[in-house]
Amino acid sequence: MRDGRHPDGDPFEGQHLDGRVLVVTGGMQGLGAAISARAARLGAAGIVICGRDAARGEAVGRELEAIGCDARFVSAELSDEVACRAVIAACDECFGRLDGLVNAAGLSTRGTLDGTSVELWDRLFAVNVRAPFILMQEAAHLMRRGRGGSIVNIITMASHGGEPALTAYAASKGALATLTRNAGHQLQPDRIRVNGLNIGWTATDGEHAVQTGTGEPEDWLASADSGAPLGRLLRPDDIAPMVTYLLSDAAALVTGSVIDFDQTVHGAAGEHVPAPAGASA
Ligand SMILES: NC(=O)c1ccc[n+]([C@@H]2O[C@H](COP(=O)([O-])OP(=O)(O)OC[C@H]3O[C@@H](n4cnc5c(N)ncnc54)[C@H](OP(=O)(O)O)[C@@H]3O)[C@@H](O)[C@H]2O)c1
Repeated sequence: MRDGRHPDGDPFEGQHLDGRVLVVTGGMQGLGAAISARAARLGAAGIVICGRDAARGEAVGRELEAIGCDARFVSAELSDEVACRAVIAACDECFGRLDGLVNAAGLSTRGTLDGTSVELWDRLFAVNVRAPFILMQEAAHLMRRGRGGSIVNIITMASHGGEPALTAYAASKGALATLTRNAGHQLQPDRIRVNGLNIGWTATDGEHAVQTGTGEPEDWLASADSGAPLGRLLRPDDIAPMVTYLLSDAAALVTGSVIDFDQTVHGAAGEHVPAPAGASA
């Protein structure tokens, strides 16, 4: 190790998921779908996706099958405790084990402090943090029967505070960030790793619906891209490799981390200072 090399060679070469069985919530569109497809391409043997739209779930399942992965769609409304538990039970029934869980499903209905009803608060907390909690509880039971596992929670940069219109969303995802650290520490003895990604603004199907639903034009993405610090919003395929890294053995020693995965820099502010004329890197 004195030469600084990893004892097992290049750790990024370990980003394969041969034979792994995964559950991906929100795996039917947007980020969840990109994660499922990449996991299938990396050799996952089985993937359970869940959501409320059976037709879409079956269609995504067929796409995963075409890549060579045994895919199952489980219909689930994640604000319901029983439905959450049934997702993991279905995985146990189909595959007899679970190696990875990705909590990608999420709800970002807008509401300020004054404009958020208790019902909306409860719904966002149910989908964004209570569902991952229940799924992690069930997943841990199953992973303990095997050789451990990896859980990845999709959080958001808004968990640091968020815009005024994201009161309940930011608070629920902040709770998920804390849960990620708590569970990451707690599940170390079981060799179950738990990590989270605070992702930034991402062009997804759901985000398109949010933007057009709040009065933005159909081509909102062009101006959003041009206004981004590094020239474009994130795309699901920017994020999926980080998730599969965290799921894989390449990240065997990473747990309890909540990673800012964005081009905005939390805590930094102010105008950029232009480099002096003639300066080079
Ligand atoms: N896009 C962004 O800018 C951004 C930024 C930061 C964080 N995130 C987070 O990234 C994740 C993915 O976002 P996305 O933009 O890809 O979202 P999306 O396109 O809206 O997809 C969300 C997924 O969650 C599922 N879902 C939502 N509510 C559900 C419920 N009650 N029960 C079951 N499934 C439910 C949806 O399935 P059905 O509707 O078919 O049931 C859908 O597959 C979310 O956790 C989101 O909070 C997104």
